[in-house]
Amino acid sequence: MASISLHCVVIGCILLHLAGASPLSDAYPPLWKDCPGQLSDYKVENGKYIINFWHYLERQGAYKILLNETAKYFEKLAPENEQNILWGLPVDHGWQYHTGRLADPTQRTDCGLKSGDHLCISVDSWWADVNFYLSAMPFLAAVDSGIIGIPSDNVTFLPPYKDQMSFCYNVSSCHSSFPEAMKKWNEFYQHLKSDSNSFDDLLKYLWAAHASSLEVVHKNFHNRLKYYSKQEAHFERNWALFVDYLAPPLFPSTLIRTHNFLKGLPTRVLLSGDRVPFISDFTAFQKSVLLALNLLHKVHVYTGTLSFIVWENLMKFKVARKLFLEILEFILHVFD
Ligand SMILES: *[C@@H]1O[C@H](CO)[C@@H](O)[C@H](O)[C@H]1NC(C)=O
Ligand SMILES: *[C@@H]1O[C@H](CO)[C@@H](O)[C@H](O)[C@H]1NC(C)=O
Ligand SMILES: *[C@@H]1O[C@H](CO)[C@@H](O)[C@H](O)[C@H]1NC(C)=O
Repeated sequence: MASISLHCVVIGCILLHLAGASPLSDAYPPLWKDCPGQLSDYKVENGKYIINFWHYLERQGAYKILLNETAKYFEKLAPENEQNILWGLPVDHGWQYHTGRLADPTQRTDCGLKSGDHLCISVDSWWADVNFYLSAMPFLAAVDSGIIGIPSDNVTFLPPYKDQMSFCYNVSSCHSSFPEAMKKWNEFYQHLKSDSNSFDDLLKYLWAAHASSLEVVHKNFHNRLKYYSKQEAHFERNWALFVDYLAPPLFPSTLIRTHNFLKGLPTRVLLSGDRVPFISDFTAFQKSVLLALNLLHKVHVYTGTLSFIVWENLMKFKVARKLFLEILEFILHVFD
């Protein structure tokens, strides 16, 4: 009963929401229209397209091409590619940019500062490094799977100024450095291309690939946390944990949903003076989310990660999964 009445409330909210809906472009990441939309917008050298993943427009441009080339697989679900589940990635990256999280946290350079080189993405930023694996790999695996329509050897990335060994620069070197993650992203595209799959199936492959990229990151970039305030470092840790918990329910990372979801996240880098939840420039929603993330981390540690295993198993039940997603949707619309 409880589930049925909640269901009705949720549907009501969604209808209300749609009635007053703003244009989809409001949900696009910052500067989306200025990003390259096709490969021919990038530089070519020796027959290869050169992409600088340490420049905001160029990194977002890779997503933009990816969204464009995969639009046809989602067009039957909603107009304007809104239901494309790859939207989650550029929208999240846009939030990182907008909130100053791609800037140099060591403050030795003006890379990424609003007042400085604002389109620069710093290799010292934990967020930028994590996102590299969630942008470069999905993009190269798409090239490799024939989604982008160019030969695999025709694209290469510029290296960052340091820690070059932690990244990869073309299809073959990413395969050899990060075989598991590349394999998982390839599997996602193979399923996308085959007609015989449900939306939930696609989400399963997407989240498996996502988790596989993050596994690499968790190992490689711990040393970045020291550049941040204790508060921001805890938020990074809690956020990464939360994303692990979002995978089993297969959060549908479509455009509007992800956009609404990100409204709950801090609008700037947390400082050492910030005391959660008493941060005056954050909304009630944002403060609640920070508290909830802290709580999740406490439970996770207290139960010795058993909570995750229980969660994973619970989410294998379709009813539980649907209920969780509906509650989440409900919360998002209440705060919207
Ligand atoms: C891409 O690859 C093909 C064949 O390998 C080559 O002829 C072409 O010049 C390459 N470069 C670009 C930018 O398309
Ligand atoms: C993809 O990009 C091309 C070229 O920029 C554009 O003409 C086309 O409308 C785009 N397709 C979708 C589905 O956005
Ligand atoms: C890919 O990158 C590696 C080094 O990062 C390089 O040795 C190799 O020649 C590149 N392969 C292609 C096809 O560009």
